[in-house]
Amino acid sequence: MRSPALVVVASIVASAGLLACDRDGASPTASQEPPSASVDPCVARAEAAARTLGKALKTRLLASLANGPEAALRTCAEEAQTIHRRVAEETGVRVGRTATKLRNPANADAPQWVWAYLRQHGAHPMPAPLLREREGAQARALLPLGAGGVCQTCHGAAVSPRVREAIAERYPGDEAVGFGSEELRGVLWAEADCE
Ligand code: HEC
Repeated sequence: MRSPALVVVASIVASAGLLACDRDGASPTASQEPPSASVDPCVARAEAAARTLGKALKTRLLASLANGPEAALRTCAEEAQTIHRRVAEETGVRVGRTATKLRNPANADAPQWVWAYLRQHGAHPMPAPLLREREGAQARALLPLGAGGVCQTCHGAAVSPRVREAIAERYPGDEAVGFGSEELRGVLWAEADCE
């Protein structure tokens, strides 16, 4: 067995920018790397797909929150998986979100390397490390998501009784409430096949 990570670039993600399922701005990580770091184009493609997914989810979440948290919860529940699939189709990269404590069991369908990251960093307070690596013909990117800000509405320690009820109706086995603002809520992951 080769060492699992041929190229690993881990950098610290500023939790402040982690408003939703994506970080604000086009490429905040780039500025956190040494200027000489050259990013493998295939790894960059994986990372871009993860960011596209984050952005698509965040846009939908923020728009639907305007109608209240229960409406937003419905939107998330009904559309998140479709958005995952659409971004995967459009980018040609496998993408998803997952976490140690899950809301939707469908999100358990993630590659082994994502679980390895969560075993290592699952209890890491934000900022948790970003992961980008190339393993042979495969490129991987993982963006950690904090549970602060708007995420507290549906994942925090003080989720309102009505939202709790709406969660329980759809996700009887929900494990994804009770997160502190500084905790890692979960991750966005992307896996690309390289030429
Ligand atoms: C309006 C309620 C709501 C808000 C606000 C919300 N989420 Fe969620 N979250 C959900 C629902 C519903 C799901 C399950 C949807 C799915 O993936 O099918 C979910 C799933 C997730 C997942 C996938 C893993 C799992 O448990 O299934 C992650 C990661 C996640 N949310 C992170 C966040 C982050 C980070 C924020 C803040 C930016 C946030 N959520 C804000 C309702 C919410």
